[in-house]
Amino acid sequence: MTVTTEEELRALQAIGRIVGLTIKRMSEHLAPGITTAELDAVGAAVLAEHGARSAPMLAYNFPGHTCISINDEAAHGIPSERAIQPGDMVNIDVSAEKDGFWADSGASFAVPPVSEQKAGLIAGAKQALTIAMEAARAGQPINAVGAAVQRFAYRSGYHVIFELTGHGVGRHIHEEPHIPNIYDPRRKQPLTEGLVVTLEPFLTLGAQHIVTMPDGWTLCTEDGSLVAQFEHTVVITQGQPLAVTAVPTN
Ligand code: CO
Ligand code: CO
Repeated sequence: MTVTTEEELRALQAIGRIVGLTIKRMSEHLAPGITTAELDAVGAAVLAEHGARSAPMLAYNFPGHTCISINDEAAHGIPSERAIQPGDMVNIDVSAEKDGFWADSGASFAVPPVSEQKAGLIAGAKQALTIAMEAARAGQPINAVGAAVQRFAYRSGYHVIFELTGHGVGRHIHEEPHIPNIYDPRRKQPLTEGLVVTLEPFLTLGAQHIVTMPDGWTLCTEDGSLVAQFEHTVVITQGQPLAVTAVPTN
C-alpha cells in the first residue's frame, strides 16, 4: 500500500508496534529447553492481548501464530515440540493484522554459548538490514536495495538467499512490489514516497537457495548452512525510511 493519510500511518504504526513488541517478548523467553510451541504461545498471547491476529494463520492457514526457524531453517518454521538447544540460532518472524492493517518483522537470535561464527552472521544480517534501509529512498530504483545488500554481504564473506525477498505490505501480508536482496537489472521501477514495504535480507554462510521441507512449510538452506534474517516494515520517504516495527530494545 501507499500511505496517504495520517490515519493510515497511525493504524500502520499501531500494528507495527504490536508486531515489534511480540518479537521482543518472545525473545525474552529464548532459553535452552523451551519448545518452539511454547515460544509461539508467548507470541500468540501478546497478539491477542492487543487485539491483533496472526497474519500467516489468517492469510495462509499456517499451523502456528508465528514462524520460528532454527539454524539452517531460513523461514516458515512451524512451532512444535522441538526444544531450543544451547548454541542454537533462532529466527522469530512475526506478522499480524489489526483493523485491516498488516505489518511484518523478523529477527535472529543466538542462544548461548554463541560461537564467533554465529555472532558474526547475526551481526552481518542486522547490518544488511541497516544497509537496505539506507538504500531505500523515494526516487531510487528498487534494485538499489539488492545491489547494496549483495555488495555488503559478499564483501563480508556471506551469501544472500536469492528467492527470499522483501515485499509490499500494509493492506495484506504480501503485496507488490517484491524487493530482491540481490541486484536484479530488471527492477528499475522507483520506490515512491509513502510506499509500505518490508526489507528483509537473509544472509548465509554459503547457500544462495532454499529448499522446502516435506512438512510443506519450512524453508531450509540447500546445503544446510546457517542463515540469519532481520526484517522491518518501513514507509518509504525522501530520507531514512520510517520503520514501523522498530521498538525500543530496553
Ligand atoms: Co516479510
Ligand atoms: Co516476516
